[in-house]
Amino acid sequence: MEKYIINGGKPLVGEVTISGAKNAAVAIIPATILCDEPCRIENVPNISDVNLIARILQNLGAKVKRVDKHTLDIDPRPIRTYEATDDAVRGMRASYYLLGALIGRFHNAKVALPGGCNFGLRPIDQHLKGFEAMGADCNLVNGAIIEATSDKRVCGTEIHLDTVSVGTTMNLMLAAVKAQGQTVISNAAKEPHIVDLANFLNTMGANIRGAGTDVIKIRGVDYLHGTTYSIIPDQIEAGTYMAAVAATRGKLLVKNVTPKHLDSITAKLEEIGVSVEEYDEAVVIDATNRDLRRCNIMTMPHPGFPTDCQPQFVALLTTVSGTSIVTENVWDNRYQYIRELHNMGARISVNGRVAIVDGDCTLHAAPVKATDLRAGAALIIAGLVASGTTEISSIHYIERGYEEIIEKLCALGADIKKKYFPEDETAVTA
Ligand code: EPU
Repeated sequence: MEKYIINGGKPLVGEVTISGAKNAAVAIIPATILCDEPCRIENVPNISDVNLIARILQNLGAKVKRVDKHTLDIDPRPIRTYEATDDAVRGMRASYYLLGALIGRFHNAKVALPGGCNFGLRPIDQHLKGFEAMGADCNLVNGAIIEATSDKRVCGTEIHLDTVSVGTTMNLMLAAVKAQGQTVISNAAKEPHIVDLANFLNTMGANIRGAGTDVIKIRGVDYLHGTTYSIIPDQIEAGTYMAAVAATRGKLLVKNVTPKHLDSITAKLEEIGVSVEEYDEAVVIDATNRDLRRCNIMTMPHPGFPTDCQPQFVALLTTVSGTSIVTENVWDNRYQYIRELHNMGARISVNGRVAIVDGDCTLHAAPVKATDLRAGAALIIAGLVASGTTEISSIHYIERGYEEIIEKLCALGADIKKKYFPEDETAVTA
């Protein structure tokens, strides 16, 4: 059992380089299944979710070689099976992209139900509705495996999503890239990683137009050639460091970002009184000597405020003056971490999708548990602010999505380390 140990109370100061986007990487890596030649993916974040999806591809038969810490060479040609049902597949949410990619390549797929962070119901009905509309017959086998079957190449069609869904939009793009004819996805999600996946596929010869708008048109092609492609910077990792530096009243140069992708995050920081300066591929956040004030936040699909930054901003809002109202509009149960923040002295009440956050809290250290990836990031922020020594357990969630978070924070002056605890000692401290 490993934990993060944080001695809080120090402002973050310096510069941090943002890694490649997790939620782009976990789609682009399975997308290589569709390619007819080897490809090279650069700016791949070195995180456990990426290592897992790369291993899943290897288990399918692909040749995956790590050229350096952030570059993968993938040769998908040796893949001969459309069955991905092992435990690794169950270990992550994004394994649902195997469905779209395998349907695209083999017009059949057999994939274990996805796992991942738990914050309430995470249905995939829209994915299945889309595959069915394209001609694949989808069934749940033994309550644990999705089987999609078609005796021929699936066909392009018009699909209107009932709800704006990132995963569905990308998964249908994967199934459609080599489909017969044109697929039109309307009410599509517009996140930067959707554009990134479309750019990757188009670089290989796909014909996708409209990614980044709510109507995406995909005309099927027969062949995708090899490419070298660099993944976009991680908007959410950047937003996490931006929230952390504001919460600790520090000053930070955040490098390797696309400032446009951070607009909704930047706007909230400016609203509470933080200075944000934008450069071509960097932002400077300055919260030194500032009295920060309350704001309201509503999470929305892109370009709205991202749900994946909601917990980190709630942690920040406990440190500003006034009462903030946060409304979570994407997930129905993404406030599980708030009871952990209560243990650290936060005053937050939750009613359904709404959290009312009292500012001016004096956070104190406590043993707390990461309940999911972004929850873990919020607890780190609280620990960086709190007086005393905070211990965070279940850090495997955090390491799914944040590359070298300890090293990056230590370089900014934080006192944070990872410590191994034998199981019996943990039982006493937990
Ligand atoms: N939804 C349905 N039916 C579906 C699919 C989604 O009702 O078939 C609903 C969901 O229940 C949710 C909403 O639609 O209420 C949006 O879900 P979406 O499909 O957009 O989420 P996702 O694709 O499963 C991705 C990210 C999440 C991020 C969401 C929203 C990946 C691997 N995961 O999930 O990232 O919160 O989009 O932006 O890309 C994270 O990185 O911490 C994380 C959880």
